[in-house]
Amino acid sequence: MRNRRAALAAIAGAASLALTLSACGQSGEGGSNEKKGDAKGGTIGIAMPTKSSERWITDGANVEKDLKAKGYKTSLVFGEDDPDQQVNQIENLITQGVKALIVAAIDNKSLGNVLQQAADANIPVISYDRLILGTKNVDYYASFDNEKVGQLQANYIVDKLGLASGKGPFNIELFAGSNDDNNTKYFFNGAMSVLQPYIDKKKLVVRSGQTGLTQVTTLRWDGATAQKRMDDILTKSYKSEKVDAVLSPYDGISIGILSALKSDDYGSKSKPLPVLTGQDAELASVKSIIAGDQTQTVYKDLRKLAEVATTMVDDVLNGKKPETNDTKSYDNGTKVVPAYLLQPVSVDKSNYQKVLVDGGYYTADQLK
Ligand code: GAL
Repeated sequence: MRNRRAALAAIAGAASLALTLSACGQSGEGGSNEKKGDAKGGTIGIAMPTKSSERWITDGANVEKDLKAKGYKTSLVFGEDDPDQQVNQIENLITQGVKALIVAAIDNKSLGNVLQQAADANIPVISYDRLILGTKNVDYYASFDNEKVGQLQANYIVDKLGLASGKGPFNIELFAGSNDDNNTKYFFNGAMSVLQPYIDKKKLVVRSGQTGLTQVTTLRWDGATAQKRMDDILTKSYKSEKVDAVLSPYDGISIGILSALKSDDYGSKSKPLPVLTGQDAELASVKSIIAGDQTQTVYKDLRKLAEVATTMVDDVLNGKKPETNDTKSYDNGTKVVPAYLLQPVSVDKSNYQKVLVDGGYYTADQLK
């Protein structure tokens, strides 16, 4: 009896010590010897790039919800598209003693130093949606098949214009995402793998002549920047000619392009809007698709992405190897980061109801 009581007292003492230590953000045994399971109940740091786009707000909320359901606390920060601010925020999270980090980078090359600090503090890092480059201190990558995103956009244009059945020539203009986002080249190269043969055959004509990735990027995915570029292109390269399609990599950019087109009278009877792609199925763009303005978007189920990333965190902290389905494609310049890639889906007026409403992503009321 005495022994049993003593044993229970010892367990209670150890538990309260563990609680005290974890409340201080320290690990019981310290450094790499930390018992992984001890992280339960600890705080996970989440660094998202910006609140200016609806999708990242949704990502932040989904990740927090899933982590809380798994028994963690969360600390969520948004970097307002400023790489220095994001570095400071991640430094603060490390100082707070987070148990793991989930990071969607603003500038994929700016996090090397701060992630070294994370590694020194034995904090695992999940690269969220955007791959972090040039550091070994990224454990896993959760994203979508990014090349497929570009292919879906381009195939949509090919189908809508009837290029495969020999129609053409048509005029097209090309837009890409931010040059400091690793996804940009995957989206663009995926799209160009489909479009280039038609450009070579002169069935697609890029009147601006801007076809190289460096000529068509849009810093920080900014809609106003895209609007200005589209304005310039329409003024300089389209007199009596009309643009038939615009490859846009992201809904926020599509909105900017649409504004430029509309101020040039596109959307009127004599000047139909071009086929215009997008990505993220953001609410404003889905409404625009229903209204017949934007033509297509690529839907990426952010609920699934959050589930993958938070399960990776939970697994790593519990000493379990997370599930991955791609261990070859995502070389960050220092190592190939094991990835779990989800499948994107092309959405337009014909299937938004089935995919987005029946799939529970939006309610019918939200789309009114
Ligand atoms: C990319 C992401 C896209 C889009 C874009 C702009 O990294 O994969 O889905 O959200 O950023 O925010």
